Amino acid sequence: MKRLLPLLLLAALPAWAKEPDAARQLQLDSMLSQDCGSCHGMTRKGGLGSPLTLDAMRAQDDETLLYTILEGRPGTPMPPWKMLLSEADARWLVRRLKGENP
Ligand code: HEC
Repeated sequence: MKRLLPLLLLAALPAWAKEPDAARQLQLDSMLSQDCGSCHGMTRKGGLGSPLTLDAMRAQDDETLLYTILEGRPGTPMPPWKMLLSEADARWLVRRLKGENP
C-alpha cells in the first residue's frame, strides 16, 4: 500500500495542475496571437497594450506576469483571463512570452 500512495496522489492531481497538452498548446498559441494580439500586436510589439517583447518579458519575474495574465490590471484595459486560462495555461504562456518554450 505504501508504494501505491505516490501513484494515487498523482492520479488525484486536479486537471488544472497539468502541463497543457499539445492540442492545448496550439490553442494557447493562437490565443496569444489573436486575442492577446488584438491589443498587444500580432508580433507583440505593442498597441493599446504594452509591448510583450522578449526583452520586456524577461525583465519581469514570472509571478508578476502570471498574476497580470490571470487577474488583469484593474484600471487599465488589460482584462483578467482566469475564466479562460488555468494557472498551468498561464504559466505556459509566461514561459512562451519569455521564449523558454520549445
Ligand atoms: C483589451 C486589450 C488587451 C488584451 C486583449 C490583452 N491585454 Fe495584456 N495588457 C493590456 C494593457 C493596456 C496592458 C498595460 C497595463 C498597464 O498599463 O499596466 C497590458 C499588460 C499586459 C502584461 C504586463 C506587461 C508589462 O510589461 O507589465 C502582460 C504580461 C499581458 N498584458 C499579457 C496579456 C496576455 C497573455 C493576453 C492574452 C491572454 C493579453 N495581455 C490580452 C491590454 C490587453
